[in-house]
Amino acid sequence: MTTFLEQVKIAPSGRRCALLRGAALTRPPSAPTCPAVARRPRTRVQGVDLPTASDVEHAARTLRDVVGTSPLHPSPRLSAATGLDVWLKREDLHEVRSYKGRGAYNLVAGLSPEERERGVTCASAGNHAQGVAFACSRLGVRATIFLPRTTPRQKRARIAALGGPLVEVVVDGDTYDDADQQSRELARSTGAVVVPAFDDPRTIAGQGTVGLEVLDQLAALGRTPTAVVAPVGGGGLLAGLLTVLSERAPYVDVVGVEPAGAASMAAALAAGAPVELGAVDSFVDGAAVRRVGDWTHAVVAAHRPPLLAVPEGLVCVEMLDLYQSDGIIAEPAGALASAAIREHAVAAPGSTVVCVLSGGNNDVSRYAEVVERALVHEGLRHYFLVEFPQEPGALRMFLDDVLGPDDDIVLFEYVKRSNRETGPALVGIELQRPTDYAPLLERMGASGIRVQVVEPTSPLFRMVQ
Ligand SMILES: Cc1ncc(COP(=O)(O)O)c(C=O)c1O
Repeated sequence: MTTFLEQVKIAPSGRRCALLRGAALTRPPSAPTCPAVARRPRTRVQGVDLPTASDVEHAARTLRDVVGTSPLHPSPRLSAATGLDVWLKREDLHEVRSYKGRGAYNLVAGLSPEERERGVTCASAGNHAQGVAFACSRLGVRATIFLPRTTPRQKRARIAALGGPLVEVVVDGDTYDDADQQSRELARSTGAVVVPAFDDPRTIAGQGTVGLEVLDQLAALGRTPTAVVAPVGGGGLLAGLLTVLSERAPYVDVVGVEPAGAASMAAALAAGAPVELGAVDSFVDGAAVRRVGDWTHAVVAAHRPPLLAVPEGLVCVEMLDLYQSDGIIAEPAGALASAAIREHAVAAPGSTVVCVLSGGNNDVSRYAEVVERALVHEGLRHYFLVEFPQEPGALRMFLDDVLGPDDDIVLFEYVKRSNRETGPALVGIELQRPTDYAPLLERMGASGIRVQVVEPTSPLFRMVQ
């Protein structure tokens, strides 16, 4: 378990009140003690004002009767597992099944009559498109939404259904970048307004309304949050939370969580500007962003919150627990925050911690991969290349002498070749307990058969996923 102190970056100004090694934050949650933050003036970056808490409050008034307040539910499972008082902000329960309607609606609602007349456009492979479709149908604004051909049919259908007759869905191009280029071309040629998924102060202000709701909902229960933990893709949600909570509740720690395979905000903070990541693991699709935004980076850099990187396998373990224990369908990005608190101590025991469960648009066909990745992460499923001697009885010997009584073969791919002495087989083995792995390796070593472990990082491993 990595301790919180090892993960966080503490601002040079010493802004953060206290971040102790998996232990106490030094002030009671109800007693804000960071006046330096509370009095922080409006931040200007390169001559541009960053959004403020008033912008978020204005967005909240705009959204109130349309987007609705998402519920805040206690999580007995995560509370028992972490020793914290854990609450889940259920953004998956919106009509668009994510928080994305907030930023999109706030932006489109703020357009001038002329801009509305010209219509809007965006590119998205998922939740943002649903948010824009929802906003445009409610506000009576035409939209052209570009989706890459890889977008599953179910998502295309949802976007079209949410948008109704005012929304044209164009499925073209192989990647998100192709769709984005087409959207920008349309904007150039027709004057349509581009609705950015995260890199716009109006989007950021809309997403920040999540933070205002959390404060109100907990206050109604006589509680104050010590930390709000949120997923980070392009950084819109994190920037919105930082904007509003740093001014209205500066005693709250806002913690950002990125997928380990796409930690683009941490890279931007380290480089001092948004940078393009070379390789990205796209599994946590909502949050697998190659480059964060300029606006979002500016806001996050102004606050330098702790950022955690969570392995994709742990996200899968948490998705399964949410599904099987809590009856919640979370998409990978939606499970990032609650996955993070399982392995990182974000606050002192007993503290009230809110995890933003940001979305629930999960395609059911993905669960096979989710189960696979979860088992690998927990050390229960392993893959090997086994060089079987091409002689009778070799396989029987492997089964009798190498496999333990509880070990299960889940994959066996072997092609017998008559002109060789050995034939390689790809073998997947599932264990009952992670501690069964070392004895299995020992028996493999003693068997005399050449066995090579297929590491999860090897290209071969991707073939079995
Ligand atoms: C469900 C979900 N969670 C988190 C994110 C990341 O959001 P942001 O770009 O605001 O950081 C997204 C982005 O699409 C998302 O769809």
